[in-house]
Amino acid sequence: VTPTLFLNGRFVRPEQAVISVEDRGFVFGDALYEVVKCYSGRPFRLHDHLERLEKGAAAIRLVIPMTPLEMEDVIDQLVATNGFRGSDAIVFIQVSRGPGPRDHFFPPREETECTIVISATAAPALDLVRYDRGIAAITVPDKRWGMCNIKSVGLLMNVLAKQKARDAGAQDAIFVRNDILVEGASANFFAVLNGQLITHPEGPRILSGVTRRVVLEIAEERNYTVRLEGPSISRLEHFDEAFLTGTGTEILPVVAIDGVQIGSGRKGSVTNTIQDEFHSLTRGQSRELHGSEAY
Ligand code: PDD
Repeated sequence: VTPTLFLNGRFVRPEQAVISVEDRGFVFGDALYEVVKCYSGRPFRLHDHLERLEKGAAAIRLVIPMTPLEMEDVIDQLVATNGFRGSDAIVFIQVSRGPGPRDHFFPPREETECTIVISATAAPALDLVRYDRGIAAITVPDKRWGMCNIKSVGLLMNVLAKQKARDAGAQDAIFVRNDILVEGASANFFAVLNGQLITHPEGPRILSGVTRRVVLEIAEERNYTVRLEGPSISRLEHFDEAFLTGTGTEILPVVAIDGVQIGSGRKGSVTNTIQDEFHSLTRGQSRELHGSEAY
């Protein structure tokens, strides 16, 4: 199959997908993105992703000249033409405020055209050992901007945090602000403490993760007690379990943070149950929980 991607209304081969060096996404990070995972060719929670993109666009006054339905149709075509009908794929969407002479002010509306890129590539195989044994994470001070709910491509702090983790021999990084574990560098963070599931509330400090929401729905179904409160790093020694959630990450156990063992140092039972439920939602008989209403 010759890979195809979507750029500004056309389906093109990757080498034909050329954008301007003056693109504001490149020059200013003036752009939003989404990552959607397709299981056996079916995008998971696509409406939640597209809704978040729309909200982010409204927040930064970006007018996307494409409706969610049109995007859905493009994704469907990309999955088909790239041969992912029966396999797992990662869909990447990026929308920037388009090209223009370098000027902080928005270009006049008539003169600008957003740059829209949508691609579908094979989903990398998950390292099952990690999902079973868990990973080690480090914490990093959260010096990001104050609108983390907007899925901006400005990911410099996230990039630095991830690399710092790798350089330290860990697998991921968790942002800490005022002694609170806020979220991972590319995933949301949950702790289990005294039988309660604890995660940072929605708002400008975190990205409102689609996977986070799915976990909260699973928790509700299972009657877990949930506390929407950033877990305090001072309680680290008392955590029974911890895990990260994200589109690519799925449900990933964290068994050590800054060298401190979490719980027994092995994947806990709550994490295991949530992994199982998540697995049946994504790969099972598609018993989609509520949410994800069509437009
Ligand atoms: N990351 N928090 C941050 C900072 C993220 O970058 C992500 C996703 C999440 C989880 O959101 P969701 O469950 O909707 O994927 C939380 C994407 C996948 C990425 O940048 O690759």
